[in-house]
Amino acid sequence: MEGAVDQYAVVGHPVAHSLSPFIHSLFARQTGQSMRYHLMDVAPEELARRVEGFFAEGGRGLNITLPHKARAMQLANELTDRARQAGAVNTLASRIDGSVLGDNTDGAGLVQDLTQNLTWPVESRRILLLGAGGAARGVLAPLLALRPEIIVIANRTAERAEALASAFSALGNIRGAGFGQIGRGAFDLVINATSASLTGELPEVPQTIFGPDTLCYDMAYGKGDTAFVRWVRGLDCAHAVPGWGMLVEQAAESFRLWRGVRPLTAPVLQALTGHMASPQS
Ligand code: ATR
Repeated sequence: MEGAVDQYAVVGHPVAHSLSPFIHSLFARQTGQSMRYHLMDVAPEELARRVEGFFAEGGRGLNITLPHKARAMQLANELTDRARQAGAVNTLASRIDGSVLGDNTDGAGLVQDLTQNLTWPVESRRILLLGAGGAARGVLAPLLALRPEIIVIANRTAERAEALASAFSALGNIRGAGFGQIGRGAFDLVINATSASLTGELPEVPQTIFGPDTLCYDMAYGKGDTAFVRWVRGLDCAHAVPGWGMLVEQAAESFRLWRGVRPLTAPVLQALTGHMASPQS
């Protein structure tokens, strides 16, 4: 592929509604990078063959999304520490020697959105993380690195929360619980990392976890507000946001890994929210 435009793609199943091509084409235009970014719908049983084929043909980088993030770890020759801690990769990058590096930019994307876009300091704050699946695991190490007072992981299935908390206990003050054992008092930050939003459901958590100053962050996003964001706004939580910022920031971090330049995210986040609000999108 000498002389050809550098090729990138997002691999998922289904993937047709992914916003990554939109985001990365804006990054490429903004930074003057010559590259092409497309969609690859790949069934789980085809993953290894298609990813290996993509790199064998000279492809430069992939984003990996649901349901492949954990399995794709095995397709990298080397993993970054944050990918190993997350137990998943969302970014693969070809290197000069032909090997493939696996990284995970999701946690960095969340932290960047919280601390830079929302100017919300994590240090010494009390954080409640709802959910104990792959999405929750992926953000734990980057959040703990910012030294919150505590992270409570609460999950519908308490044992999964407890197991996840003990896996990360060396990195900071962390505890796992079922929804009924969260404890009293409002948290400074409540992050919804359950997949409930994807089906319009709500995690059945006590309303006492929310106070007027609680920042409620839904890692999910969609057209308009998610069910979780609508629900907590109705409980008088003034600060409730869906995960658009995290989506754009994790993409910017992947772009930086691939191209060596970090694009400005504010104009892209603005374009994305405008794009999603338009009737044709
Ligand atoms: P992901 O990779 O998106 O995290 P996952 O590993 O399947 O997906 O985990 C989904 C998470 O959402 C789990 O924490 C799950 O809770 P359980 O472990 O009890 O299954 C949580 N979840 C999904 N639907 C939910 C709902 N309706 N209410 C509360 N939690 C829900």
